[in-house]
Amino acid sequence: MNRNQTPRVIAISSGKGGVGKTFTSVHLAARAAQTGQRVLLLDADLGLANVDIMLGITANGSIQDVLAEGKSLADILVPSGYGFDVLPGGSGFHELTSLSTDQQQVMLDEMRALGRNYDLVLIDAAAGIGDNVLYFVSAAESSLVVLTPDPTSLTDAYALIKVLSTMRDVRRFMVMINQAEAVDAQISFRRLLSVADRYLDVHLDYVGNLPPHADVRRAIQRQKLLDKVGGDLIVSHLHRTMDAILARPRDTSRSSGLQFFWEHALSEGLDAMPDSTDGAETETAG
Ligand SMILES: Nc1ncnc2c1ncn2[C@@H]1O[C@H](COP(=O)(O)OP(=O)(O)OP(=O)(O)O)[C@@H](O)[C@H]1O
Ligand SMILES: [Mg+2]
Repeated sequence: MNRNQTPRVIAISSGKGGVGKTFTSVHLAARAAQTGQRVLLLDADLGLANVDIMLGITANGSIQDVLAEGKSLADILVPSGYGFDVLPGGSGFHELTSLSTDQQQVMLDEMRALGRNYDLVLIDAAAGIGDNVLYFVSAAESSLVVLTPDPTSLTDAYALIKVLSTMRDVRRFMVMINQAEAVDAQISFRRLLSVADRYLDVHLDYVGNLPPHADVRRAIQRQKLLDKVGGDLIVSHLHRTMDAILARPRDTSRSSGLQFFWEHALSEGLDAMPDSTDGAETETAG
């Protein structure tokens, strides 16, 4: 553990929605917490399948309350019940670009204070290539892209990687294939890799798969971790993939800590071009 260093920041994203980002984020957080890391999971997704729902916890505030009502980020943290904390984003993240200078400073100070308390910060980003996704992913130290073997998921993951690399200079991606047996996952990864190698200047790092399994759906329905309701085989498979991600070395060229992450995300937001997603889907990986 690096108690004195800045926390590692990993953004979890996907091209297509519904592929398992939130499930992965929650279980990655829980697994890291089990090994003694101090973990913060930041819910930056504004969609329906949110972290709080998956964990069966209730958010008692959002970034909005920090900006509008003078609360501190620590006031709106929710303990997950699994040894890590959740920072609910709510619509606050939506208005990243419209923060006043004072509000930006408040958030930077808050993020700086919060960052001291964690070893690992995970960001459950929304699906797709919307501006907020791009700010968060490009500001993070590491990026994990989740996809399924579904051809549209593959194509959309490629589009996301293309936009992040060409528009935001993100060059390294961990790739996890969800809802696929190991052999099918390998095939999907190779398909993605071959088109990325051909058209993009990126490094894709395959971290593993998770098979489709009824226990995953059951865990989500019961708002519990898979560890609590799943059979041994699927749980140990999940742990293997999560451990592979956590064992990847830190990217010292991009290590930033939480306040620099936030600073970077803000400046990305302020500099963003409105047409930044044009031309994202000219080649297909399917
Ligand atoms: N390995 C799996 N086996 C079976 N079902 C799965 C698996 N992974 C995910 N699912 C199903 O996919 C659904 C979506 O998962 P999750 O909410 O994590 O996706 P997401 O990428 O966060 O979605 P969104 O883009 O809407 O935020 C889950 O409710 C679950 O039913
Ligand atoms: Mg989600």
